[in-house]
Amino acid sequence: MLYDQRETPYLDAAMRYRTIGYTPFHTPGHKLGKGAPAGLREYLGDVCLEADLAMAGAVEDTRESTGLIRLAEDYAAQAWGSDRTWFLVNGSTSGVHALLLALCGPGDTVIVPRNAHKSMLAGLIFTGAMPLYMEPAIDPLWGIPLQVRAADALTALRAAPDARAVFVTSPTYNGLGADLRGIGALAHDAGVPFVTDQAWGPHLRFCPELPVDAMTAGADAAVVSTHKLISGITQSSVLMARGERVNLARLDGMVHMTQSTSPQVLMYVSIDAARQQMAVHGAELWRGAIELADWARARVGELPGLRCLGRELLARDGVAEFDPTRLTISACALGLTGYQLETVLRDDYRIAVEAADPLNIVLNVTFGDRREDVEMLIGALRDLAARYGEAAGGGGAAVCSGLLSHTPPFTRQVLSPRDAMFAAAVARPLAECAGEVSAEMVTPYPPGIPVLGPGEEISAEIVAYLLEASATGLKVHGPEDRTLRSLRVVA
Ligand SMILES: Cc1ncc(COP(=O)(O)O)c(C=O)c1O
Repeated sequence: MLYDQRETPYLDAAMRYRTIGYTPFHTPGHKLGKGAPAGLREYLGDVCLEADLAMAGAVEDTRESTGLIRLAEDYAAQAWGSDRTWFLVNGSTSGVHALLLALCGPGDTVIVPRNAHKSMLAGLIFTGAMPLYMEPAIDPLWGIPLQVRAADALTALRAAPDARAVFVTSPTYNGLGADLRGIGALAHDAGVPFVTDQAWGPHLRFCPELPVDAMTAGADAAVVSTHKLISGITQSSVLMARGERVNLARLDGMVHMTQSTSPQVLMYVSIDAARQQMAVHGAELWRGAIELADWARARVGELPGLRCLGRELLARDGVAEFDPTRLTISACALGLTGYQLETVLRDDYRIAVEAADPLNIVLNVTFGDRREDVEMLIGALRDLAARYGEAAGGGGAAVCSGLLSHTPPFTRQVLSPRDAMFAAAVARPLAECAGEVSAEMVTPYPPGIPVLGPGEEISAEIVAYLLEASATGLKVHGPEDRTLRSLRVVA
């Protein structure tokens, strides 16, 4: 049956609940706001608290993906072109976990990109599977990961013909898309499921001017963060799959293992509404956003000392597509690191960016932005360029740039991430760690690619890199000792 994408079955049911006006003897304890403390009421407002509905007996028992929720998920399945979708309340993180739990188990091999989000590594720890990495190149100018190439997937598939899945992250944080069709075809030729982390691509399906989405490109499963770039509220995401190579019943079980048993009704409502908005108006809304973002990109390019990443990267390693609505901006030539640029914009111009790294800031342009918002951004950057002027060398940014250009290569996966994570481990001074096996994950930002995962051999190059990184103050996620004076290694 073909659903009318203008309809919003879950949103309508939530509205009905409010209109009828039930007396709630159910969770949450604030009872539609009546018992909420004054500060919370002031911040959220009565409407928001009234909408914080309970699950059982209210809109529907949200612990069961049947009835109404299943209906709303089926609308979404058609909109995103899959056989089945699941509404997620623990972000795409939980979708990645569920996918890996459904596809592999202890000792299995999964082909994964080295630039995957850390939820992928956590999924490997949960499952006990072994990663076989595909390593994307790092762009020396921007210090960001490019993309895995079809050739990388082919090499990995030849090395591990029994792999349980080929997993690709696309688009990246900076909007760089992989050759999904090419990689998917290689995986399928080898009889291996092809799955994608498309957290930064909930919108792709709905506008032909954006990069191809995973399901159109033939993926067996994808996870998208509806809260990142479309109208889902924070933490809401959607997992989608086709049944040909993925066991949907097993995946269903894993989804329920990775979700809260008290899902937030507001998230379901927002996913239902976001799906409708995209399916009905997505193309025109995103065309407007693309136009605004391209306008901003061109203006930034005219400002002295500033640059904005664009389609020129399409020619680079593995980068087959580009999402122009992601703005990666550098002011290195003004001597500003990405962190400094973020701070100046926030403190002096009241502009909040999506993220900063040592070299760049990243901003999202969506259909929620107005032309005056983007003009204000450009005005601030113009002012800032005049204030800071061209500085020779680029200061801190130059140091980070040097460091990023020689990210050490992956060494060897000696133990599975899970075995290493749960093995007896000791903290060793970093300088003495060469030759040991890491018991933790170490991820410098950027490029956000783990330099070490649990179970990997630590090389002298990695030690040298981390010593230099800690001396230059690069942010590092993962290790217990965030100062990087020591690392935990398998005893
Ligand atoms: C590539 C990628 N995958 C997955 C995630 C996790 O998504 P969520 O925040 O929805 O859990 C992120 C978060 O930034 C991400 O960048």
